[in-house]
Amino acid sequence: MDDLTSLRKLEHILVAFRDEVEAGTTLLEEVYLVHQALPETDLSKINTSVKFLGKTLSMPLMITGMTGGHPFSGEINRLLARAASKHRIAIGVGSQRAALRDGSLAWTYQVVREEAHNVPVIANIGAPQLVRGDPIHMAEKAVEMIEADGLAIHLNPGQEAFQPEGDVDYRGVLRSLKLLVDRLDVPVIVKETGSGISMQVAEKLRDIGVRYIDVSGAGGTNWIKVEMFRARIKKARLLEEAGKTFSSWGIPTALSIVETRWAHRDAIIIASGGIRTGLDIAKSIALGSDIAGMALPMLRSVLVSEQELDHFINKIGYEIRAALYLTASGNVESLQKTRPVLGPSIRSWLEQRGIDYEEYFKMLKSLKPLESRDMWRGGK
Ligand SMILES: Cc1cc2nc3c(=O)[nH]c(=O)nc-3n(C[C@H](O)[C@H](O)[C@H](O)COP(=O)(O)O)c2cc1C
Repeated sequence: MDDLTSLRKLEHILVAFRDEVEAGTTLLEEVYLVHQALPETDLSKINTSVKFLGKTLSMPLMITGMTGGHPFSGEINRLLARAASKHRIAIGVGSQRAALRDGSLAWTYQVVREEAHNVPVIANIGAPQLVRGDPIHMAEKAVEMIEADGLAIHLNPGQEAFQPEGDVDYRGVLRSLKLLVDRLDVPVIVKETGSGISMQVAEKLRDIGVRYIDVSGAGGTNWIKVEMFRARIKKARLLEEAGKTFSSWGIPTALSIVETRWAHRDAIIIASGGIRTGLDIAKSIALGSDIAGMALPMLRSVLVSEQELDHFINKIGYEIRAALYLTASGNVESLQKTRPVLGPSIRSWLEQRGIDYEEYFKMLKSLKPLESRDMWRGGK
């Protein structure tokens, strides 16, 4: 079983690297930041840093959890973590399921903390696994293994539904999440994996005390599509064809950010799913997120070379800086208060979902600064 979990994770990396696993749209192309021809500031004076989980990041960015559990993925983790540390951005590890079962694999995750001691490191467990065992014990072990600053619990019902060996029993997840929020010493981050968080889910999470949400919406890596490719390799025809039908399923990232913030005003929101440039990050912050996350582009860059990853992160940083400059925002917090213009598909969605966008942007203007919402010690 451990070998299978470990091999499956390797297959995921191979498919994600080689195949066209992205689908749909984030709808960020319908978010317009308004150009300001009189920035009244110097590009080099722009402050792109934010404080997240008690540590200062050079820009509002996180490499979201992808891998671990196999010597090859251990080496990928090492390079990702080195880059995270160098550029001072947060980093998550992939599901720790394999190492929770087989301690000899723990090093493939621990390399992340070894390399990235100066930035937030996030542990990771899947929601379906959580309800199969003692959630507190499992969570504490995962956090301890990498001395994590937070624990991400990933929700992936879409992927599980189209995976031959899928774990489709989601009963009891909310109860387990509440236990973790009440009992863990580090914050719990609930994350999707590419299909997005809806207003209804954000309300449920708010009601049990979850304060950190990674929306991971549609428009980037689509896990149903990843499983479709795997089903093709395995000649599982039904899952391949049904997977194709659902291959752009999910809530576009731009909409998921707004739905989540609308339902859970004090949340710390990570925008991910199809975030590909610094401009995407700036748009998602103007829409109401606090930081952004990327998975696939980081993986594809590191698989080319360490230098390629370094260049990619530098480019992202420059693009964020340029977006702040051209919207006359001196820092990330003031970007969150510039009101973007929204295209027709976004407006139509928000109207049909009962979200008054005038009121929404008024609410964003009065949002408390990230640092005061992000009271991770004591406040969880
Ligand atoms: C190869 C690969 C493996 C992943 N494994 C995990 C995982 O173990 N746990 C998790 O929470 N998310 C996992 N994800 C999901 C990402 O963290 C992210 O939510 C999703 O890919 C959307 O972001 P993207 O469009 O930037 O790739 C994985 C993504 C990729 C590409």
